[in-house]
Amino acid sequence: MTTSIDLLLHSAAQIVTCDGPPGPKRGVAMRELGLIANGAVAVDQGRIVAVGPSDELRRSYQARHEIAAAGKLICPGFVDPHTHVVYAGDRVNEFEQRIAGATYQEIMAAGGGIVSSMHATRNAAADQLVRESRSRLDQMLMLGTTTVEAKTGYGLELAAELRQLEAIAALDAAHPIDLVPTLLAAHAIPPEFANHADDYVELVIAEILPAALEWYRASRFAAAGVPLFADVFCERGAFDVVQSRRVLAAARELGLPLKAHVDEFTALGGLEMALELGAVSVDHLDVSGPAGIAQVAQSDAIAVSIPTVTFNLGGTHYADARGLIDAGAAVALTTDINPGSAPCPSLPLVMAIACRYQRLLPAEALNAVTRNAAYAIGLGDRVGSLEAGKQADLLLVDTGDYRHLAYEFGGNPVETVIKRGAIVYARSGRHP
Ligand code: NIG
Ligand code: FE
Repeated sequence: MTTSIDLLLHSAAQIVTCDGPPGPKRGVAMRELGLIANGAVAVDQGRIVAVGPSDELRRSYQARHEIAAAGKLICPGFVDPHTHVVYAGDRVNEFEQRIAGATYQEIMAAGGGIVSSMHATRNAAADQLVRESRSRLDQMLMLGTTTVEAKTGYGLELAAELRQLEAIAALDAAHPIDLVPTLLAAHAIPPEFANHADDYVELVIAEILPAALEWYRASRFAAAGVPLFADVFCERGAFDVVQSRRVLAAARELGLPLKAHVDEFTALGGLEMALELGAVSVDHLDVSGPAGIAQVAQSDAIAVSIPTVTFNLGGTHYADARGLIDAGAAVALTTDINPGSAPCPSLPLVMAIACRYQRLLPAEALNAVTRNAAYAIGLGDRVGSLEAGKQADLLLVDTGDYRHLAYEFGGNPVETVIKRGAIVYARSGRHP
């Protein structure tokens, strides 16, 4: 007997399922991709019904549409778990300043950096913010990203932070990519609070966090069971550990799940603080030492590594993602797409850098941008792997061997992007 379904993708040279017991993959398990040779994926009503050998699924299912994927790879749609994709303007001038020798921190201390994007974002009308961000999401989609976490943090005042949340919701509604909102009101100290940062922390706790929660409760995200995260940038020149702890503790009090930018340039103790507060993910970790790494590995937090920032800032010292995995941590990778430290939409490029400079195996890098990234944003039970019951977000890739995703770089190996069972991007055909 055959079951009738919407879509059957079959005859794929290789299927990367990233399947496994519930939860992210940690340590040596990050090498396991759940590969199926000559595989098929059965999809109905936007969900995966079955994944297995082609001949088996072709016998079991009668599909209204079929896609023959001979010679190709099928893998889960990529999940980008840490982005600042919603902003106005650019910081190409700072790019030149860094080439001339200024550092990211010097530019930030001189009133540029995040605050420069704050000015552009505060001055942008909502539709401009949506338009500028949409073209970045279009690029991300073409490169295989189907789910994106998106932070506020360029408003740094109540109205503009809420406008960023509105833009995130509008993009989620209008774009094939699913977004997950994060309130990062504590991203930088806005200039009007330059010499009294504690007062800004107070404003975040007393006004911005509660207003964001109220906004969230009435939003499409709450209706869909998609969380609102709270995040903080714990760094010299941004928020110290005491201030960061106050913000995250207040967010936790309101019931929000937590994230934290920690150990990017300076190990202030924010990592330990975020772990103590039960953060879902701890992000950056570029300067974390062996003790911090061991602590992450013993926690439930996902370590989100961002090699694009080191690359973009011309650094040579990458986060010890190898050490994190060897210590048994669950590692995810992200673009961190933003106008300053990482203007990069490409998770394939992130994988390429992570394999070369952080010595991740291609399999580890692939789990880090799929299954583990999904868990880092609270959606591990919906996306990030090809398993029955999950959302049918998947990619057809122009290779028969998943390792090519990281081995080749600078191009785009993604041929077709399928979101909830529908084709949302297909590379146009060759020239005749
Ligand atoms: O994750 N480190 C803080 N926030 C971003 C950079 C944002 C910006 O430079 O605009 C990051 O690197
Ligand atoms: Fe960031």
